[in-house]
Amino acid sequence: MDMTTSRVDDSFRKDVRRCFEKQTFAIPARWLYDRRGSELFEDITELPEYYPTRTETELLKANGPAFAAFVGQDRAVIEFGSGSSTKTPHLLKAIEPAAYVPIDISGEFLEHSASLLQEEFPELPIYAVEADFMKRVALPEAVADMPKLGFFPGSTIGNMIARTSVDLLRFMRETLGEGAQLLIGFDRIKDVQTLIDAYDDSAGVTAQFSLNLLHRINRELDGNIPVEQFRHKAVWNDLYARIEIYLEAQADVDFSIAGDDYSLRKEQKIHIENSHKYGLRDARLMLRAGGWTPLQEWSDEKDYFTLMLVEAHPLKHAP
Ligand code: AVI
Repeated sequence: MDMTTSRVDDSFRKDVRRCFEKQTFAIPARWLYDRRGSELFEDITELPEYYPTRTETELLKANGPAFAAFVGQDRAVIEFGSGSSTKTPHLLKAIEPAAYVPIDISGEFLEHSASLLQEEFPELPIYAVEADFMKRVALPEAVADMPKLGFFPGSTIGNMIARTSVDLLRFMRETLGEGAQLLIGFDRIKDVQTLIDAYDDSAGVTAQFSLNLLHRINRELDGNIPVEQFRHKAVWNDLYARIEIYLEAQADVDFSIAGDDYSLRKEQKIHIENSHKYGLRDARLMLRAGGWTPLQEWSDEKDYFTLMLVEAHPLKHAP
């Protein structure tokens, strides 16, 4: 086994094999985020058509005093999937927390962004936790007795199907404990063209982000997929209220991955991502299903994006 093969992530190989061998023609979206994919996603957040990051950041900047009024001071802020923590300073400035706990699966990313944040907030105790936040996470002892505020911006919840979202919300509740609050971002349902443009931008950055998945298969799984024969496609599915992203073969294609041969027919689509959009009532119901009670909401003027503050408390009403 050479170096390249030994570094290959087994679960990536399994997911890709399932796609082509079992002909599910679907690959989980998490594989979009290798180093190149993460860079391309950062580029997406700055595109004129991609409104979510800009809108949510404006909401965070504009509503500091209101967050402070609802959240109070001296909470430990626990950020799920903190990544580069770019939105965090706005929240930290507003509520003056007692501690900050970024949780991310990528240790490398985590240390780097935690140290940048420490420079900006030298007095704030920061405890970085390298973990998969899709399960219950053990928090550092130091924050055990502090009241907690979870932070889950970006409408990342939109990349999960409803049942996974509810599982995640329940895990967050277990991680944070009763009495905790959670500030979470939801991308709203809006006119279809605005949504399509956000996921199929004129500069083609989102297309590169999607196609990078095929490049990644070629790089890491010893593949020879002819990437130039595939096209990025963003489709609105009204029944599921979501943007679906596909890679569509533009011709009949033959290729191999790790020595196994595959053929796809022209127009065969591979489903690689969902981005769900929400009405306010949809989001509230999902939060309640996950054990969270709505407290307050902040939306922009166009109702493109909403930040919801919710609370975990024992059932007060008839079950
Ligand atoms: C990370 N996530 C919230 C993005 C979204 O809007 O669903 C991922 C993305 N995919 C294509 N463009 C952006």
